[in-house]
Amino acid sequence: MENRIWEQLQTKFVRESILSDSFLDFMQENKLPVDTMMAYYRCAIMEVETKFKVLNEQFSLRYDRNPIESIKTRIKSMESIMKKVRNKNLPLSLSSIEENIRDVAGVRVVCSFLDDIYMLADCLLQQDDITLLERKDYIQNPKESGYRSLHLIVEVPIFLQNEKRNMKVEVQLRTIAMDFWASLEHKLRYKKNIPEEEAELLAKEMVECAKTSAALDSRMQDIKNRIVMGEED
Ligand code: GTP
Ligand code: MG
Repeated sequence: MENRIWEQLQTKFVRESILSDSFLDFMQENKLPVDTMMAYYRCAIMEVETKFKVLNEQFSLRYDRNPIESIKTRIKSMESIMKKVRNKNLPLSLSSIEENIRDVAGVRVVCSFLDDIYMLADCLLQQDDITLLERKDYIQNPKESGYRSLHLIVEVPIFLQNEKRNMKVEVQLRTIAMDFWASLEHKLRYKKNIPEEEAELLAKEMVECAKTSAALDSRMQDIKNRIVMGEED
């Protein structure tokens, strides 16, 4: 019974929001431009991902180590873009999406060591085709949740047949420990059926885990520094 009501509510929501006249009109009128814009964002992701792969390759040759553990990329779904347009009360147009939604293209770089995060961020930002729009250091200043990562919003040019376009990309740099923490915390955040009291306890537990993981990151960094010093002696 409860399920049926829930289903009806969902259908109503879909009809009124995602399938609203204005949204459907927008999609119809903008089918080709929307597809084009999403393709441009995919190109921008390729550009940024390649830049990190090149840096990793160079470090591998020069210092015989890989600062990057893994790179994950994602494009924000049209549904999430539309939700953000609605929640932020933005004008419903492609230029407004491009201007105001800075995380349509996302690149996540996972490193073993803290120092590598800052080293890679510096290497990227030094490149003369990259423009930094915003930098948020949630490692120096973790969020209340305990979340840590270095966030950059950059603009990168993509070269098309007859033009060059600057596209915005969100880059998140973090350690393996930060990534491990964030993926569990993300699960907790989006689980809807946990009782409120239990959810609060788990959130507190996550804050403690974040501290433990930050301490681990800095101890691992110290050990690595001592190993490197030992090699140099
Ligand atoms: P958004 O509108 O959500 O993009 O917020 P914002 O523009 O203030 O960006 P923010 O710097 O908060 O970071 C956005 C992204 O960082 C999110 O999409 C997540 O990937 C990640 N993030 C930020 N805070 C948290 C957190 O507390 N937990 C987890 N798991 N991820 C987070
Ligand atoms: Mg976001």
